[in-house]
Amino acid sequence: MQPNEMIAPGSVWLVGAGPGDPDLLTRKAEKLIAAAEIIFHDALVGPGILDLAAPGTELVSVGKRSGRHSKAQDTINDLLLAAALGGKRVVRLKGGDPSIFGRSTEELDHLAAQGIAVHICPGITAASAAAASGLASLTLRGLARRLTFVTAHARAGEAIDLDWAALATSDSTLAVYMGRAAAPEIARKLIAAGRAADTPVLIAVNVSLPGERLIRGRLSALSFLTQAISDDDPTLLLIGEATRATAMGKAREGAVVLPA
Ligand SMILES: C[S@@+](CC[C@H](N)C(=O)[O-])C[C@H]1O[C@@H](n2cnc3c(N)ncnc32)[C@H](O)[C@@H]1O
Repeated sequence: MQPNEMIAPGSVWLVGAGPGDPDLLTRKAEKLIAAAEIIFHDALVGPGILDLAAPGTELVSVGKRSGRHSKAQDTINDLLLAAALGGKRVVRLKGGDPSIFGRSTEELDHLAAQGIAVHICPGITAASAAAASGLASLTLRGLARRLTFVTAHARAGEAIDLDWAALATSDSTLAVYMGRAAAPEIARKLIAAGRAADTPVLIAVNVSLPGERLIRGRLSALSFLTQAISDDDPTLLLIGEATRATAMGKAREGAVVLPA
């Protein structure tokens, strides 16, 4: 298929851009980016990925970063609709996977209500990339039978509304998106609800990007461990036994590895 046959004029693809490293794009995402006439992209979608667009492609940042929304969701919906109604081949490029805290349903519903054809191309979500970078697993036979994707993003001044008792069960891994600012509250509420204070945590900052940082510790220290991370650095919290460092993972992060 020729690149521009990937997208029918007047249709929209919601495309997962993965965690940042262009090599973690799917082949389909790469082809769709090359086929687009206009790309609306999140702030977390970096230059290495946007460089894959064909010369002359219109690039529109509709970036959202840590509470600072450069465009309201309604505006983004309307921009997508106007581009599609104008007969363009439209790509809406979202960090990670569009189906995980990506507000893809709002965009899809808005477009579909006006008869616009919409398709979704999945991407690698930050939790998968964080586990890979940390040489960890998201599940673990016998110890982590459940994996919960959770967002700790609350409206300003509001407490995070989560079922802490359900999240505190010991046999699950929590992948917490947008959780850096709320890290102290998350640790406090999980421990109060019964999660062990020594539960391993893996804090993954800028995963797959040049400034990647992995920080390991215990749930009781989550507040301290996240203190120095800037608001501008995308940060994912993995909490649970499955994220416990393997010997090889520790070695890669430069920690001391004790002989077995
Ligand atoms: C609005 S959510 C979008 C999640 C995205 N759809 C996904 O599947 O990864 C943005 C949050 O994802 C996490 N995130 C995205 N990219 C990341 C990266 N490269 N490193 C660490 N966390 C990341 C952070 O928690 C960030 O605040």
